[in-house]
Amino acid sequence: MHSLIVIAHPEAGSYTHAVAEQVIGGLKDSPHNTYEIADLTAEDFDPRYTAADYRAFRDGTAPPADIVAEQARIDRADLLILIFPVYWWSLPAILKGWIDRVFTNGWAYIDAGGEDTTRLLGRLAVQTIAIGGATQRTYHKRGYAQAIQTQIDQGIFGYVGARMVGSELLLPLDAASSQAGLQRAREIGANLTSAIRDGKGV
Ligand SMILES: Cc1cc2nc3c(=O)[nH]c(=O)nc-3n(C[C@H](O)[C@H](O)[C@H](O)COP(=O)(O)O)c2cc1C
Repeated sequence: MHSLIVIAHPEAGSYTHAVAEQVIGGLKDSPHNTYEIADLTAEDFDPRYTAADYRAFRDGTAPPADIVAEQARIDRADLLILIFPVYWWSLPAILKGWIDRVFTNGWAYIDAGGEDTTRLLGRLAVQTIAIGGATQRTYHKRGYAQAIQTQIDQGIFGYVGARMVGSELLLPLDAASSQAGLQRAREIGANLTSAIRDGKGV
């Protein structure tokens, strides 16, 4: 199984990166797993939707070269793993821009107008790990947990036909929950191989 691990945090020493390391550690438990890391900040990914992106969307022409390269990385992967901090109850801008620019009409889906959508990424499995700073109580009281799931699992990956294997929300509020989050990340990494094999999903 080949995974593309997308990390969207500006600081290499962050908790988000530590979570990514644990997921990778878990993936490595299965000897045949391979992976590629897309550290969007380190790679200087430009999340701004450009006029060239828009022309490709409007006219159905090829997207810019940086986007074709990103799509090729996803094409090589069986599993896409997104690891990101929650910013304003949503994706951080760099990751939102990555989705906006990379999941193009014609490659991720074909929109024939109205509800007539062809979903092109049915072969792709997806695991997300979001990391937040608020309490579980706030997430549930305000409906943020459900909102994030609706937006990302259904709104993005459901739309393109990808299969959600899991969407995790880690809330490292103190030493104990931080440690538990890292353990959970390791467990997720270790379980992904069998989850994909057995067709499990959320
Ligand atoms: C710009 C910004 C917006 C944030 N918005 C939220 C939010 O809406 N909900 C939340 O739970 N945490 C929010 N946080 C907290 C981050 O999610 C949290 O600090 C981060 O996930 C901790 O991981 P890190 O140490 O890897 O940064 C925000 C942080 C920043 C910098």
